[in-house]
Amino acid sequence: MSTIIAPSILAADFSHLQKDIQLINDSVAEWVHVDVMDGVFVPNISFGFPILEVVKANTSKFIDVHLMMVHPERYISQFVQAGANGISVHYEGNYHLHSLMQQIRSAGAKSGVVLNPHTPVSLLKGMLHLVDTLLIMSVNPGFGGQKFIPESIAKVAEAKALIQKEACSTLIQVDGGVNTENCLALKKAGADVLVAGSAVFKADNPIEYIAQLAQ
Ligand code: DX5
Ligand code: ZN
Repeated sequence: MSTIIAPSILAADFSHLQKDIQLINDSVAEWVHVDVMDGVFVPNISFGFPILEVVKANTSKFIDVHLMMVHPERYISQFVQAGANGISVHYEGNYHLHSLMQQIRSAGAKSGVVLNPHTPVSLLKGMLHLVDTLLIMSVNPGFGGQKFIPESIAKVAEAKALIQKEACSTLIQVDGGVNTENCLALKKAGADVLVAGSAVFKADNPIEYIAQLAQ
């Protein structure tokens, strides 16, 4: 399977959002990554439903919503109505993760769990059959443009081994500081989906850069 690239619109130019979404449409990226931050779960506030609706209106690509917020269970159906095809919630702070996975699937989206850099993969033992996407954070969540944490590569390999052991079809996604220097190691370790924000939108030729990440 070729690597799915999910450009993060957090790094887009919001005065020309339509143009940046079109750029993604014209590239080989299969997903669009949408980061929702509430200023409580993470020390930053990004955007919510209105921006997601703009993304939905301008693309037919898979819309991958990463929720960095408390009480995501209150908003799952609203995110699906606004355009989310996949919804990922953090392991941290979500005390009823098992039911949250079922809630996301019942609402009609792919279910995802996100692990912060300090959270071990082993905590997901026995529940991967409920998880369509396992997102390994390779920076601390909250901001784009941070430096990649190299230990994430070993964590991807560990996730791959657990998914194989449990004979699940969970995709492994990596988010934070991903670029053309670390993408090969991540793919070798087992990453199926790579999120990239700054590296894509700061590139001289973002469409070409996305193609390089996907190779
Ligand atoms: C960080 C977000 C990321 C961010 C990645 O909390 O989850 O999706 O947009 O941006 P870069 O690629 O710039 O690290
Ligand atoms: Zn993200």
